[in-house]
Parts: sequence; structure tokens; C-alpha cells
Amino acid sequence: MRPAKRVRGQLRLPGDKSISHRAAIIAALAHGRSTLQNYSTSEDCARTLSCLQALSVQVEQDGSSVQITGRGLDGLVEPRAQLDCGNSGTTMRLLAGVLAGQEFASTLSGDESLRSRPMQRVIEPLELMGARVSSQGGRAPLHIRGQRSLRPIAYAMPVPSAQVKSCILLAGLKAEGRTSVIERGGQTRDHTERMLKWFGVSLETRREQDRGSDATFEVLTIEGPANFSAHELNIPGDISSATFFIAAAALLPSSVLELKDIGLNRSRSQVLSTLTQLQADVKVLEESERCNEPVGTIRVCGAASGLTSTEGSRANIIEGSLIPQLIDELPMLAVVGTQVTGGLTIRDAAELRLKESDRITAVVTNLRAMGAEVTEYEDGLTVCGPTRLSGARLSAFGDHRVAMAFSIAALIAEGETEITGAKECVGVSFPEFYAMLESVVER
Ligand code: S3P
Repeated sequence: MRPAKRVRGQLRLPGDKSISHRAAIIAALAHGRSTLQNYSTSEDCARTLSCLQALSVQVEQDGSSVQITGRGLDGLVEPRAQLDCGNSGTTMRLLAGVLAGQEFASTLSGDESLRSRPMQRVIEPLELMGARVSSQGGRAPLHIRGQRSLRPIAYAMPVPSAQVKSCILLAGLKAEGRTSVIERGGQTRDHTERMLKWFGVSLETRREQDRGSDATFEVLTIEGPANFSAHELNIPGDISSATFFIAAAALLPSSVLELKDIGLNRSRSQVLSTLTQLQADVKVLEESERCNEPVGTIRVCGAASGLTSTEGSRANIIEGSLIPQLIDELPMLAVVGTQVTGGLTIRDAAELRLKESDRITAVVTNLRAMGAEVTEYEDGLTVCGPTRLSGARLSAFGDHRVAMAFSIAALIAEGETEITGAKECVGVSFPEFYAMLESVVER
């Protein structure tokens, strides 16, 4: 990749990956035929559809429009082979919650990266609910022996994870009574809650205060068994994919970029506030609500005088309860940090080591190769800034978000950058990434 002068134009991005997974799974459990417009074009979301088909759910696809004929909560059929989740942690963890409440046995597996990721976090609550799950020491393949009816539980998640929360809520649809998930340490994305409500399932959200401290936590309760019918959906553009374009526009002076119809859910849009606190010129226009999710246009202009932290905002430190809200944006923000006066520190983010790659090692290795000064911690990193990056030979580490973050780094670097394995892996979340980037880049 060669450096760029600026990015200019207007883009509409494919549907949000997290929302698409949930839409497909919940539609499959509903009665009747749901139409999902602007379904994510990612390989991950295609995996969710193929797993649902293997469970005898009828799926018809015409471009980004997907029709799903739901089989109700008890209508899934035992699959003939292992369910292949590919690279997709969301497919595996959410489907585990669904399969726990089915009377048959099934096996969830995936690629080498997915088979190395921790699954004990879903095995434990599902076993408490009465499912039997065997694994390879807490990793996939997961063999799930489900129960027609599960026990309701109240479960405090040991790590803030939307995938674990969603797994339990989906299993809770098949439990006899009230299943609660207690979320401490920061609020994770709430698309499952919103989607269930959109399909008419009643779900209660309560904020409570820890005894003897100011800290609050969230309790989500679902009452099973729940019964619901098909709904129409129009999925907003993916804000995590948008982040790469927003960063490019913010980092390249004289850029002007508009991203239309992007999901602006508060549990996902912290990246906009973080960039604004770093003095990036990011604005939200035309905000509205669609299918129980906020959407709008994001307009970004290049910061002519560079990025810096506003006084007293502590924007140079990303930590604590902000981490779950920025979890997929941290590789890109680490690259942005190299251009911020005073640099950027990310802490409390050990979860990054458990994603599609060890994202702390991947980011630190690539940033150092580009000449950045970086300190690595077990739970994060500090990058010094501002630093002129140099083009280098990098690796995508088989990770779509690492590939895309460093493709943007390449645009602001001096000289050429080569990222091994990048084209092969961006399709996991965003197959159109390079074509769309080329359509807005000016050199
Ligand atoms: C996701 C939740 C996040 C995120 C992942 C998608 C989801 O994972 O990193 O890309 O759709 O629920 P955790 O909630 O496990 O941190």
C-alpha cells in the first residue's frame, strides 16, 4: 500500500455484523418468515446462516437481503455434521446458547483461531442451566447435549462479554422461569436485548448499586419459555467497519468523508466520542431510530492541526469500563495514538489477547516495525506520539481488524507498506474494504 493525501466522498457500508448474527438467529427461533435487509456481507455472518441451514432453517438470500423462515423454539433439527463456525466467535457462542435448549446433540467447531479461543465462559453457565457440554479443555470443538427445557439461573459474568450475555439470554428463552445476567465492569453491546424486544420478547433491564460503593451494575432478566413471531428488519451500517474510514479521514488533513446510515448504538459509538476528545472533527448528522437501533450519518473532516488530547479529558488513556465499548476499535485507536500529541495508553484490555489473534502482540509488533515507540503491558500498551510512521513489511496475523488498521496506518506512513495475509482475511468482517477504500483515497 502507498501513502495517501486524503480521503473524500460518501459511503454506505454493509450491515452491522453483530446485529446481523442476532437478527438471523432470533428470526430462526421465531414463527414465520422474517426479511432482513442490509444483512452483513461478512464471512462470519455467512457462517451463522450456514449453521442455521444445517439445523434445517430455511434461508433464502438475494444479495444483502435475507429471508429466514423460523422454526420456533422447538423446531430445530439435529444437524448431520459438525456446525462449522469458521472464524466467528459470535456464531459459536450465541449458537451454543441456542443448542443448549434443543433436545438433540450437536457439535460446534471452527478454524484454528476459533479453536484456540476460550469457551469455558459459555460452557459454565450453560452447564448450570442443565446442558451437558464437552470440550477440548475449554476450547472448541464443543459437543453440546441439550435439554428441551433448561433451568433458569442468575449469573454474574466474570468478564464483560456481549457474546456470553447473549448466549445466556438465548438459552433463557428455553428456561422455565426468569434467567438473569449480571453485567459488571462496563456495559457491553446491547443488540441482543434490543433485537429480542423488536421481536416482541419481554426483557427487563435494571441498574443496581454495589453495596458500599458508587459502582453500578446492570441486571438483565428474561422470562422463559418465550414465544415470538417473525419481524421485518433493516440493519444499520457497521460502525466497527466505519471506524477504519473515520480514522483515515481524521488522520489525513483536507479529508472530508460522509458515512451514511451507520449504527449509532451508544454501546458501540464510544469511538466517536474518543476521537472527538482527541480533537478529531467528527460529527453525527440526521440521527434517527430504525428497528430499535439508532442510525445516522457520520461526517469526518481531516484535522489540519493534528490530534491532541483536550485538557483534563484524559482522552490519552482508554481504560476501565470504556474497554468493552471500544473492544473492536482498539487496534485502530492504537494506530491513531501514534499521531496524537502525548500519545495514547490502553489498559484493562487483556481480552484483546483472546480475539481472532492476540491483538496486543499483533499491534505492538506492527507498530514497532513502522518505527513507533511502544510499551507493551499484559493488559494493553502505550504508544508515543506524534510519530511519523515508516512504511514496512507487516503481518495481518490472520486477523481482519489488524489487517484493516494497518492498511490505514500505511496511508499515513512514509514509503510503501506490505501486509502479508491482509487480503485473505478482511472478508471475515468486511469483504468490500479495499475496493471501498480505493474509491475514496486520493494520492
Ligand atoms: C461481539 C462482542 C465482542 C466483540 C465481537 C463481537 C458480539 O466480543 O469483540 O467482535 O457480537 O457480541 P465479547 O463480547 O466477547 O468481548
